[in-house]
Amino acid sequence: MKEMLKKIDQTVDFLKSRIDCTPEIAIILGSGLGKLAEVIKDAKVIPYGEIPNFPETTVIGHEGKLIFGKVRNRNVVAMKGRFHYYEGNDIDTVVYPVRVFKRLGIGNLIVTNAAGGINTSFKPGDLMLITDHISLFCENPLRGENIDELGPRFPDMTMAYDRDLQKLALESAARLGIDLKTGVYSYCKGPSYESPAEIRALRNLGADAVGMSTVPETIAARHMGMRILGISCITNMAAGILDKPLNHEEVMETGKLVEKKFTELVSEIIDNWR
Ligand code: HPA
Repeated sequence: MKEMLKKIDQTVDFLKSRIDCTPEIAIILGSGLGKLAEVIKDAKVIPYGEIPNFPETTVIGHEGKLIFGKVRNRNVVAMKGRFHYYEGNDIDTVVYPVRVFKRLGIGNLIVTNAAGGINTSFKPGDLMLITDHISLFCENPLRGENIDELGPRFPDMTMAYDRDLQKLALESAARLGIDLKTGVYSYCKGPSYESPAEIRALRNLGADAVGMSTVPETIAARHMGMRILGISCITNMAAGILDKPLNHEEVMETGKLVEKKFTELVSEIIDNWR
């Protein structure tokens, strides 16, 4: 585990040598939500391949890069191309970037994703503020020897998604006239979509949306005491909610349709960050 910390710190040292100032906020851009990267000013782009010890994305068409720069005068870093468990990455790899961000001195994290809607009052194209998560059936990224330098053995997840940031997001959405839904995000490993019976089970457990990312990063970030804001883009209704099969193209298309709204909301939130 000390080995892992050493690797993380090598990555951090490299990034420090390439940037002028430490960002205030790190943003993980979910599948199909990459447009936000286009509004980053004074962008310094660093491909993952150039960063020592940084993993590389395996998904074709998902370029992997860190983009340092400004969104409405706040220094941010956006991660375009995240590491999913379903790609065959081990869970340490999935959370590696978040650990780098915190060791770099970044205290705030915005996690975003595409998700299937379980709550029947949602529709494709809605944005959902994540208020809590379910990850009962998935591997925990903190399993194994604890890295005490990062955080405690048994971190609290009571307020994993920062309450003040949730308030800020809802106020920002209201100012823009965006109907921001709220709900519980349930993490499934993928890559197959869930079965209708699984979705019924998740609904009974209190889930409003389902996806294949975000929770490992959130757990690792909370372990290190980061403040987290999570936003899901509801790209489709989850399996069995509607009487029709799911397809990945629909998920990507809806992502494209809401990218503008999503980018406006995240920019407004960043502008008013407190
Ligand atoms: N399930 C899991 N992940 C997803 C979905 C879904 O329905 N939609 C987008 N990502």
